[in-house]
Amino acid sequence: MTTVTEIVSDVYRISTYAPDYGIQFNQFLVKDEEPFLMHTGFKRMFAATRDAVAAVLDPARVRWIGFSHFESDECGALNEWLAAAPQAQALCSFVGAVVNVNDFAVRPARALADGEVLPIGRGRLRFLATPHVPHGWDAGLFFEETERTLLCSDLFFQPGDPAPVTHEDLVDRVRAAIMEGQASPLAKDMPYTPYTDATLQRLADLQPRTLGTMHGSSFAGDGGRALRELARVIRETLGQR
Ligand SMILES: [Fe+2]
Ligand SMILES: [Fe+2]
Repeated sequence: MTTVTEIVSDVYRISTYAPDYGIQFNQFLVKDEEPFLMHTGFKRMFAATRDAVAAVLDPARVRWIGFSHFESDECGALNEWLAAAPQAQALCSFVGAVVNVNDFAVRPARALADGEVLPIGRGRLRFLATPHVPHGWDAGLFFEETERTLLCSDLFFQPGDPAPVTHEDLVDRVRAAIMEGQASPLAKDMPYTPYTDATLQRLADLQPRTLGTMHGSSFAGDGGRALRELARVIRETLGQR
């Protein structure tokens, strides 16, 4: 079952709960002159995501498809989207384009430089290269500057099927999820590198008002503080091993 929630003006969270995984897979659609979709979801989720997008705008109008890193939940349905939306182009890091996407995808990606801004109408998407945060050499994140929305992929991961948006502090839930993950077959998903903390502090300095989380509730509130708390939790858990 897929639900659509407008979490910020013209930003729609498309959430599909997958009982076999016990987690949500959330896509984000920014409705603007050049509509932007953050994550495609799995290939097998394409029809559900497309139908949810259709509740907001014509899926064929999608112009940009962003994702953090090359994994099936992030971009598995990229080719289905490139077929459904003839003007659409993938947006990713230089590493993402060269190492994966330009071979995998039916059309080449547009590689964005770290800090590059792409106007999409009223909104402005800033690309942040974030290697190995949350994971993957190619990782990056998108920040919509007008409404100050950070689309933060696997950061702030929470299992289950929680509410679309929370105003409450996520840090305890996130710490519990990290500890639980480290004891599971999917452990060691996030490396703690010499630049992990600096990357998270840089994201905090953006002072987001909303954090769009791929798995779990989005957060509305002081995103800078939430990211500094996340950096502390990650340092205290993954940084100590
Ligand atoms: Fe991931
Ligand atoms: Fe993910």
